[in-house]
Amino acid sequence: MSDNPAQSTQETTDKAAPAGKAASVPADLRERELKAILHISNMVGSVLRHEDILRIICETTAEAMDCQVCSIYLLDDDRRELRLAATHGLNPAVVGKATLAVGQGLPGWVAEHGQIVSLANAMTDPRFKPIPGSGEEACRAYLCAPLYIQYELIGAMTARKTIEYEFTSSEITLFETICKQVAIVMEKVRLYEDKIEAEKMAASGWSLSEISHYIKNVLQAVQGGSYFVDSGLSRNDLDRARQGWQILKRSNRKIAYLVENMLNYSRAPNPMREAVSMQELLSEMLGAVEETAQRRNVRIEPDIEPGVPPIYADYDSVYNAVLNLVTNAMDAMDEKGGGTLRVQWRRDAISPSQALLTIADTGVGIPPDVQKKIFTLFFSTKGRNGTGIGLAVTKKIVEELGGSISLQSTPGEGTTFTLALPLHRSSEG
Ligand SMILES: Nc1ncnc2c1ncn2[C@@H]1O[C@H](COP(=O)(O)OP(=O)(O)OP(=O)(O)O)[C@@H](O)[C@H]1O
Ligand SMILES: [Mg+2]
Repeated sequence: MSDNPAQSTQETTDKAAPAGKAASVPADLRERELKAILHISNMVGSVLRHEDILRIICETTAEAMDCQVCSIYLLDDDRRELRLAATHGLNPAVVGKATLAVGQGLPGWVAEHGQIVSLANAMTDPRFKPIPGSGEEACRAYLCAPLYIQYELIGAMTARKTIEYEFTSSEITLFETICKQVAIVMEKVRLYEDKIEAEKMAASGWSLSEISHYIKNVLQAVQGGSYFVDSGLSRNDLDRARQGWQILKRSNRKIAYLVENMLNYSRAPNPMREAVSMQELLSEMLGAVEETAQRRNVRIEPDIEPGVPPIYADYDSVYNAVLNLVTNAMDAMDEKGGGTLRVQWRRDAISPSQALLTIADTGVGIPPDVQKKIFTLFFSTKGRNGTGIGLAVTKKIVEELGGSISLQSTPGEGTTFTLALPLHRSSEG
């Protein structure tokens, strides 16, 4: 197989002059050419999916070449087979499935020899091998050129008419120019995809390491707690055993909290919704954190308006979202040796179709430059004591409910997070 486009020669059936030697190009062809090239070049910055870009290129090329069919074949990773990657005019059901070995059929021949082929009627050419079920049998005139990125062959592109026809040298030149543009677009798409992949790998590598450290930390605490329980029991020292048991319970909570957050972050929006009474949810949660609050010298002040209608949500997800805020507040006050946590739930006086949940602490506060980053996944200032998943999950859950999250913070004085949550429509008063 030739890998050098410089060696590619043009193989045409008899009369057509070699590409690039036409004395004059008809004005309408020139216009079509410019339009097609502009359109294809515009794909460089496109955010469309790979397959959509290729399909649009096929449509644009078919129109510019005045052809009924245009297809792109791409070399597989092992470089032995060409796969039909996109088409305009052939049966879309064969896209992604139909393959030709390099050397097989006309695209295979073009890929092997690195040469353009122009035929007035492909049906009479022994190299032609139609893809079953593709509708190729209806085509006659055939133009196929190799696609190169730099010196690397990446596939072949075809333009075909359903009539017998000799492509002119101007048309062949236009097709070659289009193929060069397509290769440039493909290169950009490939670079962009590689970049995204690299970013994903970097992000997941980092997150795995952060999470592993966090889990290792908790497991160390489990080991310590178990040691206290064991030694307490063997010495008949129940206080020591109790102390160990508390450590075990806390570690268990931490792991459950992490797993819940990871699940909530990675899952699709939860369709299991029901009317959720925030009064009940908050009272359950404040009961659950009471012991931790006492231990951390935090006073909890609930201020819950009784008549606020329910929200329409998944109970566990909302619980998780609010628990993240309460846990952060406790951590922030712990750093100051204690404080007051105010939890308020009230109907929004300005927008009565929603209610506001405020979680206000008197903790260390968040400096303005840190405030910008706190909703970013894996951002944490807590070293091995935090994973940075909490607020990203809370934001995701709240936004899935059609709500919003905001904060106000004064370093050294404390932080207030406010969730605006839409109320269940059937219960709006
Ligand atoms: N109430 C708060 N007071 C002060 N800082 C806060 C508060 N809430 C969040 N933060 C800051 O935002 C960062 C991100 O919070 P987030 O809950 O996402 O992660 P985390 O608490 O560090 O870890 P985890 O995933 O275990 O919750 C925290 O590390 C902290 O710096
Ligand atoms: Mg947190």
